[in-house]
Amino acid sequence: MSEKKKNTGYLSGKEIRAIAKENAKVMKRLEAYKYRKAEESEFLSEMRDPDNILEIDDLHTYFFTEQGVVKAVNGVSFDVPRNATVGVVGESGCGKSVTSMSVMRLLQGPQGQIYSGAIRFQSKDYKRDEKGKPIGTETEDKVYDIAKMPIREIYRIRGKQIAMIFQEPMTSLNPVFTIGQQLDEVTLIHTPDATKEMAKARSIEMLNLVGIAMPERVYNAFPHELSGGMRQRVMISMALAANPRLIIADEPTTALDVTIQAQILDLLRDLKTKIDGSIMLITHDLGIIAEMADYVVVMYAGRVIEKGTVDEIFHDPRHPYTIGLQKSKPTLDSGDEALFNIPGNVPNPINMPDHCYFKERCDRACEKCSGAYPEMIQVSPTHYVSCWLYEEGNENG
Ligand SMILES: Nc1ncnc2c1ncn2[C@@H]1O[C@H](COP(=O)(O)OP(=O)(O)OP(=O)(O)O)[C@@H](O)[C@H]1O
Ligand code: SF4
Ligand SMILES: [Mg+2]
Repeated sequence: MSEKKKNTGYLSGKEIRAIAKENAKVMKRLEAYKYRKAEESEFLSEMRDPDNILEIDDLHTYFFTEQGVVKAVNGVSFDVPRNATVGVVGESGCGKSVTSMSVMRLLQGPQGQIYSGAIRFQSKDYKRDEKGKPIGTETEDKVYDIAKMPIREIYRIRGKQIAMIFQEPMTSLNPVFTIGQQLDEVTLIHTPDATKEMAKARSIEMLNLVGIAMPERVYNAFPHELSGGMRQRVMISMALAANPRLIIADEPTTALDVTIQAQILDLLRDLKTKIDGSIMLITHDLGIIAEMADYVVVMYAGRVIEKGTVDEIFHDPRHPYTIGLQKSKPTLDSGDEALFNIPGNVPNPINMPDHCYFKERCDRACEKCSGAYPEMIQVSPTHYVSCWLYEEGNENG
């Protein structure tokens, strides 16, 4: 290609066709991998730390579009310890939902694909015969690498051991079935030998557990007959019906008003103790994180840029982006003062630079920041930051 053409920034028809051909090839390979038949041994794994319930390790999730490859999740690693709430925070489009959809294997194919990485989950599954069928109701501990599981095996985990609560319950509830029919189904699908009566009793129990006063009435109602807050309670009861070990809540209160929001958060906190499980809580609201989380993961443009305990992230933030986020949070003392705004935009996800993605917005960028993307640097046993300022010997950090 001539130098002149290279500088236009546009792709030629030939280049576009070449991208499409290459994308089609990769998508076909990944789809075939997803739909393959595989022995259980192919997706069994070991936890790095047995105190974790989930370990996401260098996860890459891409969307293959006509304009190019969107690296929505580009090397994300973090853990969810047992009985802990991990808050995932970051601005719109940074890859929070795509990370959770990867764990649930709900990515829209063939464009959306887990490209590489591991998602290890400490599962408690039924004992199975060599064909993968459950033998009775006895369970055993097994670590599954969800990223390697053929999609036909995902029912072992999805909705049962890992449940998800979405932002807008109306899109997840089926408008033509009653709440009871939809709740019963969870028990009927996930519990071998469950009868209709057992399922109903469990559904009523779950509705009670999420604080619904007249469970029989809600059981017989259709979704449109309930308020937003009630629907979110129903969604939570549905997530709980299968007794999950991990709940992923993606902006669970964004569609609700403030008082209902507080009730739903109380409910989630309460339930974590009741089910003796963990929560991965996705939100862009730092107030919710401060109130709910034990650990915080800060994402920026498809990467984790800082992670630590809630205390470390709130009282000792290190990454200039995390510091900016804290400054842009309204407080009672802000008064009429304009809120701090981090200048600039996130880079184009199709064409990410090689250097730190925050560089163009960073007021502390140094010479090194134009070089390679910064490695994760450990600043305490639980606190990590990806920023050149904290490299050993850098006095500005
Ligand atoms: N189906 C898709 N096709 C192409 N790109 C997609 C698709 N779904 C998501 N993306 C891209 O992936 C990136 C991450 O999106 P994601 O939904 O995970 O953001 P998010 O952090 O959840 O944001 P929000 O706070 O707005 O919910 C974005 O750049 C988005 O445009
Ligand atoms: S690596 Fe450099 S540009 Fe990136 S956040 Fe740190 S100081 Fe800023
Ligand atoms: Mg989202």
